[in-house]
Amino acid sequence: MGLTLRALFLAASATRVIASCAHGTFLRPRAEGGTVEVAKFGYTGSIGPLNWAALESPANGVCATGTRQSPIDMVDGVFTVLQGADIQLTVNDMPGGADFENLGTTVEVITQGGTLTVADKTFELQQFHFHLPSEHLDNGTSQAMEMHMVFQSAAQEIAVIGTYIGIADAAAAAPAARAKRSRISARQEATPPPATGAVKATTLLETIFSVVDKIAVPGTVVKTPPLVMSEVVDVLKANAFQIYSGSLTTPPCSEGVNWHVSTARLGVTPASFVKARDVIGFNSRFPQNAPGEPNLLMISTLGSAAAAVAAMAGGSGAVAVAPAPAPTV
Ligand SMILES: *[C@@H]1O[C@H](CO)[C@@H](O)[C@H](O)[C@H]1NC(C)=O
Ligand SMILES: [Zn+2]
Repeated sequence: MGLTLRALFLAASATRVIASCAHGTFLRPRAEGGTVEVAKFGYTGSIGPLNWAALESPANGVCATGTRQSPIDMVDGVFTVLQGADIQLTVNDMPGGADFENLGTTVEVITQGGTLTVADKTFELQQFHFHLPSEHLDNGTSQAMEMHMVFQSAAQEIAVIGTYIGIADAAAAAPAARAKRSRISARQEATPPPATGAVKATTLLETIFSVVDKIAVPGTVVKTPPLVMSEVVDVLKANAFQIYSGSLTTPPCSEGVNWHVSTARLGVTPASFVKARDVIGFNSRFPQNAPGEPNLLMISTLGSAAAAVAAMAGGSGAVAVAPAPAPTV
């Protein structure tokens, strides 16, 4: 059994090497006149997160073997809570606008200074970018988008603030219209249902996404209108952070990343969400195992190999397979 398993692993890794050799040639689309380097990994097919380790070996190995990978489902027990008031956060406004780049894998705003100080450690803000849908799950539930503000310390340590972005309630976005509607409906509905989880559109996000269609082509960059950062900084400080030690959610998936997932919600209008979605497409790594648990790709590889061996051995000791459920559509 040991030998057969090893043979299976060798066969599997040979396939991976071939797969990665086939890449590299066509994975660097470069826009005409573009100035931004486009990433060679992706989110679907053979360049997607199931295969990141093989795309660049051994550099990306921890993507498949690491036991503190991100994102994760933010359920009780995987994080500790830090009050927003217990961190120091400053982000410089960008009155002349900021460079907003399409890296092929995300859209990213290059910031112009900012610091995060937690427990006497100071990190400098580098950039912020967006994932769609959210990468972290809020207690099992994905959100429309997630913003990552990436900070680095002088010792090259990384801290990230992750903030969920919801789709702004049309009524919340337009208070006047809401008031009018409630007068009209007052006679029909005595108590209008509360808008659960409603968020207001965040001016910073509306401003940034007002030009996202200008960078629809990977490798392109545009200057945003002036950006005021205090709105978001104030919201982050007024809420709490769910903190845990995880990883980059993109290759090389390096661990030791200080994650701060905010309990605050930012918002985008439905129109801005659609505009951003049409450019970003899909860029969310699948939720990883809880911190400290084996990497899901290791579990899956070992499980597949064991099942194949059992099948070759004639079914004795085969992994129990549940009867197929009736198909549903
Ligand atoms: C997650 O949901 C469960 C079940 O509703 C609840 O008991 C728990 O408090 C929630 N945890 C967080 C962190 O919101
Ligand atoms: Zn990110």
